[in-house]
Amino acid sequence: MSRAPYVSFAVRPESPGRRLGSRDVVEALSQELSLGRLPVGSRLPPVRVLEAQLGLSKNTVQTAYDELVARGLLETREREGVFVAARSAGHEVTPAFEAPLPKLKPPPDLGPTRIPRDSIMLSTVFVDPELLPRDRIEECARSVLREGLAPFYDAQGHPGLRDAIARRLRSRGMDVDADEVIVTCGSQQALDIVARASEVRRVAVESPTYSHARLLFENAGLNVTSLPFDPFRGIPLDEWEQEIRRARPGLLYNITSFQNPTGYSYSTHELTSLLSLAERYGFSLLEDDWGSDMLSGSEYRPMLRLLGGKNVLYVNSFTKKLWPSLRVGFVVAAPHLVPALIAQKRLSALGNPWLTEATVAEFLERGYYDAHLGSLQRELDARYAACLETLSQLMPEGVRWTTPGGGPTLWLELPRSVDLEKLRERCALRKVLIESTRNHFAGAPNLHGFRVSFAFSPVATLRRGLEILAEEITRA
Ligand SMILES: Cc1ncc(COP(=O)(O)O)c(C=O)c1O
Repeated sequence: MSRAPYVSFAVRPESPGRRLGSRDVVEALSQELSLGRLPVGSRLPPVRVLEAQLGLSKNTVQTAYDELVARGLLETREREGVFVAARSAGHEVTPAFEAPLPKLKPPPDLGPTRIPRDSIMLSTVFVDPELLPRDRIEECARSVLREGLAPFYDAQGHPGLRDAIARRLRSRGMDVDADEVIVTCGSQQALDIVARASEVRRVAVESPTYSHARLLFENAGLNVTSLPFDPFRGIPLDEWEQEIRRARPGLLYNITSFQNPTGYSYSTHELTSLLSLAERYGFSLLEDDWGSDMLSGSEYRPMLRLLGGKNVLYVNSFTKKLWPSLRVGFVVAAPHLVPALIAQKRLSALGNPWLTEATVAEFLERGYYDAHLGSLQRELDARYAACLETLSQLMPEGVRWTTPGGGPTLWLELPRSVDLEKLRERCALRKVLIESTRNHFAGAPNLHGFRVSFAFSPVATLRRGLEILAEEITRA
């Protein structure tokens, strides 16, 4: 049986130097009780505890308690202990003082925390767990445990994992050393430590962008500049330049491949133009590369970090492609920035779970990751093709969609006459969930639609979801 914690009180001898006796205990307790310092119903220290604490015999303590019980100030409850007696029936234990409730910022609207199991998730960014290598991850975790659990963590991240990540990036042409990699709890923590460490006060983001990055920057007190773009037309470099010249951001955050939420991928020309703008206007680049390797035939797309070198802060993650609950991501930073970023990670979490990091290291070390990405992409390609075909069969006129050619999602753009909120509600009633996009936009929404995921549901389920969506769009 679990017991309530007991109250504590001080007992002092009648005169200094004298040995304590049961009278001293009675006196001390009566005084505390008469002053109302011990809440009604609270538990007294067990006899053996007072015996040890005060250096008294068991009998002396028991005698004191017995006397106070006899006076009606304490009561014994069988097998539970001795308690401050209730002076009136039904009296609740109330704290002596009521401290004010801690003042917290109102929570931003981050959407649901759990994935509902009985609905079709039409806008999720997650990949179908059925396509992910759970058995092999478990095999690696078991192997790591057989080696024995390390007692301490490395604040920068498991050295073997950092080494495997650096080698993998080098094989894709990036000049990266293991000491420049900081392992994080998903790439969300990577964005967080960059925001915390950043001295700049203004960050520019694509609009629409990954909502939780924008909200994180705002939460960290950064001002956010919106750089609107249309995924059907590309990056409006001249307009962006004008806005950058006006707002003077110190940092630009962008998602260069299969952008969340539009599926847009930057052309090499757009990437090099951004690098040149960065040099001209003195802002740094924070590249979120969640998707450059979500492409057919083990190909990968160019990255800012590849073209721009070490000054570009580079963030990536294993969440979507390996196993979401592992929560492993990383940031790659120029050597002289690494200590400041590690310090922020330590302030927020000290370090991350070693077992998970060691498991991912083992997974990479065994060559499982690249093999897995190959087979995953073959299935995603098939789902993507089926999704495009279904969209062209079912969607009414006026509906357009992006054709990313990789990644997990595309953007479905609807005529302005469709009320997105009502559409969302009507689809939800039919157990088809589409996302609310208001948080994607840093300024006024310049698009009118939402993400469609082709990576999460098997083709038949996706088709069912799209049928319902098309019916509801037509109705709207
Ligand atoms: C573009 C992008 N970056 C970063 C993240 C953060 O994910 P994680 O912390 O799981 O790596 C997400 C999550 O969906 C995302 O879409």
